[in-house]
Amino acid sequence: MTRTVLVTGGAGFIGSNLARFLRRERPEWKVVNLDKLTYAGNAESVADLRQDPGHVFVRGDIANAELVEHLIRHHAVDAILNLAAESHVDRSILGPGIFVQTNVSGTQVLLEAARTARVKRFLQISTDEVYGSLGASGKFTEASTLRPSSPYSASKAAADLLVLAYGHTFGLDVVVTRCSNNYGPYQFPEKLIPLMIANALEGRRLPVYGDGMQVRDWIHVEDHCRALLAALEMGRGGEIYNIGSDNEWPNIQIVGRLLEILQKPRELIEHVKDRPGHDRRYAIDAAKARAELGWSPHIAFPDGLKGTVEWYLQNRGWWERVRTGDYRTYYDRNYGAR
Ligand code: NAD
Ligand code: DAU
Repeated sequence: MTRTVLVTGGAGFIGSNLARFLRRERPEWKVVNLDKLTYAGNAESVADLRQDPGHVFVRGDIANAELVEHLIRHHAVDAILNLAAESHVDRSILGPGIFVQTNVSGTQVLLEAARTARVKRFLQISTDEVYGSLGASGKFTEASTLRPSSPYSASKAAADLLVLAYGHTFGLDVVVTRCSNNYGPYQFPEKLIPLMIANALEGRRLPVYGDGMQVRDWIHVEDHCRALLAALEMGRGGEIYNIGSDNEWPNIQIVGRLLEILQKPRELIEHVKDRPGHDRRYAIDAAKARAELGWSPHIAFPDGLKGTVEWYLQNRGWWERVRTGDYRTYYDRNYGAR
């Protein structure tokens, strides 16, 4: 079936990978890509799609109801994949307001437009962080209690609940996916893996929060994109699907591995003051997605990590250009006091 999908946040890390993935996997579909181009959005990340008639890029805010309604009508949008968000936990600690504005109010604007225009499916791209933190054992399932710890995760949990409420109350066909930590090409260098690669390549210190024994469950962005397409096509309306790769690592081991791949000294590591409210461990049980969506991850972590380092080595201009100006102001504010 020919489809037009509205991907929001499509100039960000996952969104740009998803836009490219959808054009490749579903070439008969049209992708309308709505992105505000905040500090985290980068038109360069979808530069290769500029000449592609199946990809339409629109700079704009998901909280702009008039624009969203116009895009849905004008392009006869069948489905919305909502990735637009303020996504960085540390920034949400420095300034929570914009997180509520975009992640909560912006999502509600999209939902209202989807309901009015009778959009066939609304896919909300959410996070395992809505479940809070785990102890040494166990994994998050879709039935785990919501216990968000940071303003970022609280805003994502609020958005999830609004999405599910629009399904329950108005009959909008909604699906929520909750994925673990993504890595891969085009990730903004404020997040652990690209930050450590970029700092190591520039001979800067690698700031590891606290003891570095916090655990994250890593998945390659391409595997996440494949799961999103499966959830869009095969997910049951009103359901939540956890997405993860059974790939838990303490931060300090990830940083050590990156230094080994880059052949840089461990002395670059600097333990700095911990993130306030820092979640200790995430781990995802993705059994439901595996069983119902027929999905499974394809990319082994050693290969994915090597490929990611390779991408940052080959695309130095992409990340060097964004590590100036506002980025340095943020960096000094976030790390200066640690
Ligand atoms: P990102 O910060 O790299 O990209 C976010 C994009 O959204 C940027 O291009 C930005 O310009 C755009 N944006 C921000 N506010 C907007 C607005 N008001 N209107 C339109 N566009 C706006 O984030 P990401 O890592 O690609 O994450 C994408 C989504 O996936 C987010 O919703 C995030 O919560 C979710 N998620 C991320 C991860 C992860 O590990 N990165 C894991 C699970 C879920
Ligand atoms: O779990 C999914 C989430 O993963 C997504 O919802 C978020 O959008 C995404 O940003 C990510 O959140 P994290 O806080 O887990 O990611 P981040 O890359 O910021 O940090 C990963 C771990 O590394 C975390 O335990 C904090 C630590 N860290 C991070 C940075 C930036 C450091 O020790 N030093 C750092 O400088």
